[in-house]
Amino acid sequence: MKKKEFLSFHEISQNISFAINNNLTNNPQNWPEEWKIVNYNKYPRFPLLKATNNVSINNRLIDVLHERKSFQKNEKNVLLTSAELFTILKHSLGLKNDKKELNQRVYPSAGARFPIECYLIINKMEEIQQGLYHFDIVNDGLNILLEKNLTDEITKIFGEKFKNSQVLLILTSVIDRNYIKYGERAYRFSLIESGHAMQNICLLSTALQIPMTPIGGFVDSKLIRLLDLEKEREFPIYCCAFL
Ligand SMILES: Cc1cc2nc3c(=O)[nH]c(=O)nc-3n(C[C@H](O)[C@H](O)[C@H](O)COP(=O)(O)O)c2cc1C
Repeated sequence: MKKKEFLSFHEISQNISFAINNNLTNNPQNWPEEWKIVNYNKYPRFPLLKATNNVSINNRLIDVLHERKSFQKNEKNVLLTSAELFTILKHSLGLKNDKKELNQRVYPSAGARFPIECYLIINKMEEIQQGLYHFDIVNDGLNILLEKNLTDEITKIFGEKFKNSQVLLILTSVIDRNYIKYGERAYRFSLIESGHAMQNICLLSTALQIPMTPIGGFVDSKLIRLLDLEKEREFPIYCCAFL
């Protein structure tokens, strides 16, 4: 696939009619039977090498992996503090040491090209103004891009379900950072790397008991406009809501 083909595929894949305010997908009672069946590959005619007792890992990681879940609501009304938000950002996406080496980060990236960037829409936090922010990994803080109530934009981009979220986090890819090295494989790497970063965010949110949900269904064109991106240079891949 040439660059213009994967950009064109990315454009085609922006169909999210299945996600935003869709009465069929949003309501499991309306789901067809085949959506309810969850499969995995089975090899019934092959012998099974049964798992032995697990080694004991004396830290919280295993618990956190099992506790992780996507929340539908913030039932306990947990308020996200700025200290918690910065902790999640730094340890999910940030630089690994104090030397500020850009190629040393907490998540892996093919060839250390790091195409992923992170933006935040702050909607309801006590300590941070409503608006649009960019996570600055070097200065370990948020670049304030726009101070504004963006609840309407959140509803249009992510649907009614997320309009009361405290924060929406957006991972984008600046595709040329890895395209110059990996050519057509760059698109694949960007998708994989956003998954690495998002898993870190999932696990840290779990460890801090902050209800969150990953979001793959959003209106790309409206989000690109809000972030003021040149869409063939940088595009949103994966988002999440801190509910
Ligand atoms: C790539 C991806 C996209 C997702 N997109 C959405 C979404 O747009 N809206 C939503 O409510 N949940 C979304 N989810 C959450 C899934 O519905 C959830 O992971 C799944 O039901 C399994 O539940 P669990 O995460 O609690 O284990 C997404 C998850 C992934 C991995």
